[in-house]
Amino acid sequence: MADMTIIVTGSSGLLGSALVKSLRNDGARVVRLVRRAPRDDDESCWDPAKGVVDPAVLEGAEAVVHLAGAGIGDRRWSDEHKREVVRSRVEGTRTLVGALTALAARPAALLSGSAIGFYGDTGDLAVDESAPAGTGFLAQEVVVPWEAETAPAEEAGIRVVRLRTGLVLSGQGGMLSRLLPVFKLGLGAPLGSGRQYWSWISIDDWVLAVRHILKNPEISGPVNLTAPEPVTNAEFTKALGAALHRPTMPIAVPGFALRTVIGGFAEEGVLTGQRVLPRRLLESGYTFRHTHLNEALAAVL
Ligand SMILES: NC(=O)c1ccc[n+]([C@@H]2O[C@H](COP(=O)([O-])OP(=O)(O)OC[C@H]3O[C@@H](n4cnc5c(N)ncnc54)[C@H](OP(=O)(O)O)[C@@H]3O)[C@@H](O)[C@H]2O)c1
Repeated sequence: MADMTIIVTGSSGLLGSALVKSLRNDGARVVRLVRRAPRDDDESCWDPAKGVVDPAVLEGAEAVVHLAGAGIGDRRWSDEHKREVVRSRVEGTRTLVGALTALAARPAALLSGSAIGFYGDTGDLAVDESAPAGTGFLAQEVVVPWEAETAPAEEAGIRVVRLRTGLVLSGQGGMLSRLLPVFKLGLGAPLGSGRQYWSWISIDDWVLAVRHILKNPEISGPVNLTAPEPVTNAEFTKALGAALHRPTMPIAVPGFALRTVIGGFAEEGVLTGQRVLPRRLLESGYTFRHTHLNEALAAVL
């Protein structure tokens, strides 16, 4: 990784900030594309919505990791927020890919953010990267069009990897941080049926897996970033309670209550799920640091 120049978008987010720190610790030069005025030479301003990015910054970089997009599960799904979730991803990816394909000296690799929401609700069926897109807003209106925007980069000969990320476990943000206050009070409970699968990955493994993908030029196409042992929401609830040494409630939170409080995200982000296997990562020789949920929770909490 040392001596590589890597461009990162969405670098102020949960995943971007952890990745940037790790790459810089390893001696890589990281240039962050930011949506505000740059603060130093390692930042460059872009406006993903207006198609503005400085081609001189992209020229000569070895790789681009594109993570920008409006938060999916951090607020109620109003029609306006849903439009922003889609628009920020589709337009941002289009802006970046348009600039990359127009370069004379293109980066070798584009690792573009995506999500296991691609697979829709898989029920008990375990899926890998060969599974087709599912149904619903997240799959059909967010992830499919978001991934499709990377196609011109592939056609231009850039190695494109679509980072189909699962539920990232971190003590610094994301879904786990939202669950922690409730579980610390001993009020954690299964959500809905509790049988829906949550395909998790520790933040350490997410960063290490992205670094593995950067270093291995034979990896391209969709890659699931999830641990090899997804669990049901009921199992997740038990494990999180145990990790915090707190009891959990014997009665599940009913689906209708979650739909009322959280809105549309409850259905697709919480009450249904995906049972996803990281086939491409394992086949390419990646060794997970945290295979079991208990180890991962102990590490991140
Ligand atoms: N965390 C997870 O569990 C998870 C799971 C599946 C998929 N993902 C995907 O992985 C990517 C990174 O996740 P994350 O958890 O790091 O997300 P995050 O914490 O919400 O950060 C996303 C970053 O995108 C930029 N951004 C925010 N709103 C934007 C907008 N309207 N237009 C353009 N850029 C915007 C911001 O960076 P700047 O202010 O620096 O531009 C923000 O820090 C996201 O696309 C997310 O959907 C995450």
